[in-house]
Amino acid sequence: MNLKITCIPGDGIGPEIVAEAKKVLDVVAEKYGHDMQYTDILMGGASIDVHGVPLTEEAVETAKSADAVLMGSIGGDTTTSPWYKLPPNLRPEAGLLGIRKALNLFANLRPAVLYEELAEACPLKQEISGNGFDMLIMRELTGGLYFGERKTVEENGVRKAVDTLTYDENEIRRIAVKGFDIARKRRKKVTSVDKANVLDSSRLWRAVVEEVAKSYPDVTLEHMLVDNCAMQLVKDPAQFDVILTENMFGDILSDEASMVTGSIGMLASASLNDTKFGLYEPSHGSAPDIAGKDLANPIATILSASMMLRYSFDLDKEADAIDEAVKQVLRDGYRTGDIMSEGCEKVGCKRMGDLIVERIK
Ligand code: IPM
Ligand code: MG
Repeated sequence: MNLKITCIPGDGIGPEIVAEAKKVLDVVAEKYGHDMQYTDILMGGASIDVHGVPLTEEAVETAKSADAVLMGSIGGDTTTSPWYKLPPNLRPEAGLLGIRKALNLFANLRPAVLYEELAEACPLKQEISGNGFDMLIMRELTGGLYFGERKTVEENGVRKAVDTLTYDENEIRRIAVKGFDIARKRRKKVTSVDKANVLDSSRLWRAVVEEVAKSYPDVTLEHMLVDNCAMQLVKDPAQFDVILTENMFGDILSDEASMVTGSIGMLASASLNDTKFGLYEPSHGSAPDIAGKDLANPIATILSASMMLRYSFDLDKEADAIDEAVKQVLRDGYRTGDIMSEGCEKVGCKRMGDLIVERIK
């Protein structure tokens, strides 16, 4: 296959981890007879430094013309970086929100898996983590509070800020369909998370999800309130297969779920539109404190590249080869600092990339 991939190295550790993911993709391309062409674009702080804005029209056009986008991370230290002295619409995060909207990436898939090899890193008690867990958060990504009308005004000398949470039934239906489709390929359970005891948007969410569920009689649907879900994630994470939820709840719950695995440096994510096109990125941030020091864990980005092969290109065999190589490296006892445990060998970002490449060859 000829694959055109737009890369967004971004800020902080982004460039280092994307470089390792490219190395891995190159060896996969060589072994399985594909041709991968990469075009880099700037986004976030890297784009602000050059263009004064976190995302340019041209960058969006380049991304659109590719078959998929592979991203590292964006953003800097919010207390010290000059990027955060800019108005909100010119800060690094605005670039990420902008590209999500411009590419219509409404479905955000965030798997949270407890790797057997890293079970020690899990902060939960053994009696809870012992069963292992493997869930996928399907987060709506282009609606809700993130994209509703907002303003800050002053009324009679009192400052007031307004954000609005809006969903129409079409936005809910399309993400619900994605959630049920993916549940069918997994353990066939969807937990739809909302706050239907308070919010109208959640009541509509629940009604539409139930309508969609009728077309998936083989998939079990349950509803859960978001506060309860936050609790259940630490109490019994093994109960979850697919968690289907709106933008803001998904933002919060996916951080919680990744923390529960104890190894956020391992977690990949995909943001998809209604075609095969997607943007793939690690679930973690740009870690400016360790940037450029060859200390970052590239595995989440490498696994994001694997998700890209699987979801955008249907290259399951190739994706399996990457996933297996990652597991093998862990079994062989290599760890980056963030997942280090006693008796293992500590390696840097580049070496970790090389070790995975060797196991694919
Ligand atoms: C995420 C991040 C973003 C979000 C920020 C950087 C705008 O937290 O991808 O989860 O809130 O969506
Ligand atoms: Mg987040």
